[in-house]
Amino acid sequence: MAYKILVSDDVSEKGVALLREHFDVDVKVNMTPEQLTGCIGDYDALVTRSQTKVTKEIIAAASKLKVIGRAGVGVDNIDIPAATARGIVVLNAPEGNTIAATEHTIALMMSMTRHIPQAHQSMQEGKWDRKSFDGIQVQGKTLGIIGVGRIGSRVARRMQAMEMTTIGYDPYISEERGRQVGVELVDFDTLLKRSDYITIHTPLTSETRQMLNAAAIAKMKDGVRLVNCARGGCMDPQAIADGLKSGKIAGAAIDVYPNEPLKKEDNPFLGLPNVVQTPHLGASTVEAQIGVAVDVAYGVIDALEGRPVMTAVNMAPIPKSVATVIAPYFKLAERMGTLGIYLADAPITAVEVEYTGDLADTETQALTTAFLKGLLDPILQDTVNFVNAPGIAKKRNIHVKESRSHQTGYFTTAITAKLTTAKNEHRLVGTLFDGKEAKIVEIDGYRVDFKPEGYLLLAPHIDQPNMIGQIATVLGKAGININGMQVGSGKAGRGTNIMAIAVGDDIPNDIMLQLRGIQGILDVKLINCED
Ligand code: NAD
Ligand code: MLT
Repeated sequence: MAYKILVSDDVSEKGVALLREHFDVDVKVNMTPEQLTGCIGDYDALVTRSQTKVTKEIIAAASKLKVIGRAGVGVDNIDIPAATARGIVVLNAPEGNTIAATEHTIALMMSMTRHIPQAHQSMQEGKWDRKSFDGIQVQGKTLGIIGVGRIGSRVARRMQAMEMTTIGYDPYISEERGRQVGVELVDFDTLLKRSDYITIHTPLTSETRQMLNAAAIAKMKDGVRLVNCARGGCMDPQAIADGLKSGKIAGAAIDVYPNEPLKKEDNPFLGLPNVVQTPHLGASTVEAQIGVAVDVAYGVIDALEGRPVMTAVNMAPIPKSVATVIAPYFKLAERMGTLGIYLADAPITAVEVEYTGDLADTETQALTTAFLKGLLDPILQDTVNFVNAPGIAKKRNIHVKESRSHQTGYFTTAITAKLTTAKNEHRLVGTLFDGKEAKIVEIDGYRVDFKPEGYLLLAPHIDQPNMIGQIATVLGKAGININGMQVGSGKAGRGTNIMAIAVGDDIPNDIMLQLRGIQGILDVKLINCED
């Protein structure tokens, strides 16, 4: 059955069309919270911009929901803890509108500085007024940037070209990063004191809520100019309006508001001459709207088709440089987890995953998550994903350890998983051949060589003649095709061995019983490694 997607805000048709190629898509914009709560139970994914408020009540009614995709960067309209608790992937499209928001910030800053909207309005009224609109030059002035991330750093670069001095407050970036983008990092109070212009580019968090408030304004230079193209909640609008009225603030340019859409009666800037206001237009360019819609569509497709999502916000983000190295290993790690759960002969108490070779120098946490997803999926049936797998493992008291090593074994780049159960220890090694073909190369000390795909039979057995023949006879009689067969090697004299058989299809229970009844067969597990 095709997944059903609800698009609840105005999202570019390019992204919607991409989703339609894979799923059934309904576009229903401007719904009331009650209407959304009433229909959300039918959908597997929800795609929004900032208008839809995805509250915990809506999430509670979303019984089938697996993904919430936000066409844009800010996810403050989504109750992320509630979504995470339900294992719903929340993803955004953080890069598609960066340039649009950067350029809008600069457009606002320059309009405010040179009173362009006011002068335009005066011309529209038939006047020729050259006295009321004197501005200042930005050249030589100091621009204080709060939040030197994607947008903040680009604003810095562009305003450096206008010969402004750029300083920044961002406790989460390094001095080195500051140097790379030409921003001298300072503490918050120093930024407030030194800046002629202050522009904010942080997300809305408990730390940044009302960051631009009366106390902060009091520490600013007299005649400071402010820009907010980030989130309305980062400022106290009334405090800014008071500062504009008193002359402490010479100008303000505002694109975002604590409650949107902003009602006329809630707008403290109404009638003030030294303000430029836009109705949350930072991302409103053709390029940005297509960019975020297409990015979010790809994210939703990845999430629903079981691939890890690079832009998920409620799981560890994966930087592009890391993704390039680890992406080819995702399927392998997940399949190794699936084989692991079938190998285990008692509840698993600990998992240790070691990465060697190319994987030794990169972040591998996402691969361990993929391993855990593969491990837990067969026992929890479709309720495990890349968001909740580590949490579920913890709840089940599975101790997870990850390590990386430059010491290589037979294969230079490999993933080795050790599973400890109450009874035993198991070991699995997997690698990629030619950088793309996932193979299992060792199980419990036996050298093997098979692809973890389709349906696999894993059969530990006594090392004696005719084991293969007997299994093949039972399968042949049942009309089950054998696509490949591997007997382990490298453990001569141990008295036991393991067989991995790739079969075309699921195997009925009675045939499994017959296989288990073969003399010398210690166990037979049927493992579903289908996509
Ligand atoms: P980003 O995550 O790339 O950058 C945010 C930066 O803020 C990071 O460097 C982070 O370290 C810093 N930061 C976080 N907490 C901080 C704190 N307490 N003090 C100082 N710095 C802090 O985000 P971005 O893509 O640059 O977006 C920035 C903001 O712009 C977000 O709020 C986003 O929602 C908003 N945005 C608005 C529009 C619009 O239409 N107006 C469009 C796009 C983005
Ligand atoms: C964003 O967070 O991406 C912007 O505010 C734009 C939008 O809300 O669409």
